[in-house]
Amino acid sequence: MHTDTDSTTFWENHYSRLDARLGTKPNAVLADLLTALSPTPGTALDLGCGHGGDALWLAAHGWDVTAVDVSQTALDRVAEGARAGDVADRVHPARHDLAETFPPGRFDLVSAVYFHTPVDIPRTRVLRHAAEAVAAGGLLIIVEHASVAPWSWQAGEDVRFPTPEQVLVSLELDDDAWHVERCHAPQRVATGPRGQTATVTDNILALHRLL
Ligand SMILES: C[S@@+](CC[C@H](N)C(=O)[O-])C[C@H]1O[C@@H](n2cnc3c(N)ncnc32)[C@H](O)[C@@H]1O
Repeated sequence: MHTDTDSTTFWENHYSRLDARLGTKPNAVLADLLTALSPTPGTALDLGCGHGGDALWLAAHGWDVTAVDVSQTALDRVAEGARAGDVADRVHPARHDLAETFPPGRFDLVSAVYFHTPVDIPRTRVLRHAAEAVAAGGLLIIVEHASVAPWSWQAGEDVRFPTPEQVLVSLELDDDAWHVERCHAPQRVATGPRGQTATVTDNILALHRLL
C-alpha cells in the first residue's frame, strides 16, 4: 500500500501519464454479465470509472450513467469520449474521493469493476455504500482481481485475495433483500498494457436487490 500519498495525487499522476486511448473499451466481464442478466436499462453508477470504457458502453446500451472517479483527468477523458460517441446526454462524470464522499441517490445498476487502489482506503465501506445505493429491483456488480497479473503493481508480492464468498459476507447484506445471481471466481485471459497476455482470476459478484 502507498500510505505516503493520497488518492487524488496517486491517480492524477497515473492518468496524466497514461495513453488516453487505454481503458476506453468495456470490460468484457461486465458486458458479458449484463448481456446474460439482461436488466432493463435505467440509471447506472460506475464507481472508479477510469477512462470510462464501461460507462461509455453502458450509455451506448441505453443506460443513464453517473461515472465516478477521483481523477479529474480521467473524468475529462470520459466526457470527451461521451461527446465523441454521441452519448454525452447519458454520461455524467462526477468527481468523488469515495473514501470521503459518495454520489447521492439510488441507481438501477451500481458497478465497481476493478475498483482497486494501492492507496489505503476503507474499500469495504465504499462497497457497502455501493450496495446501499442500489434501488429496489436493481443490480449490484462487483468485479475484482483475485490473482496478480505479471504487469500488476503487486507483481512479485505475496498477495492474499479473499474468496468471492468472503467478499459477499463482508458486504453485510440482508439475505431477505438480495438474490445472488453470481458469486464465483472464473479465470480469463487478460491483456496487459503492452499487449502481453496472461491467465488471471476474477472475483465476480452480481446481486439483485429485491427490496
Ligand atoms: C484499477 S482502476 C479501474 C478503472 C476501471 N474501472 C477499469 O476497469 O478500467 C481503479 C479506478 O478507481 C479509481 N479510484 C481509486 N481510488 C478512488 C477513490 N478513493 N475514489 C474514487 N475513485 C477512485 C482510480 O482513479 C481508477 O480509475
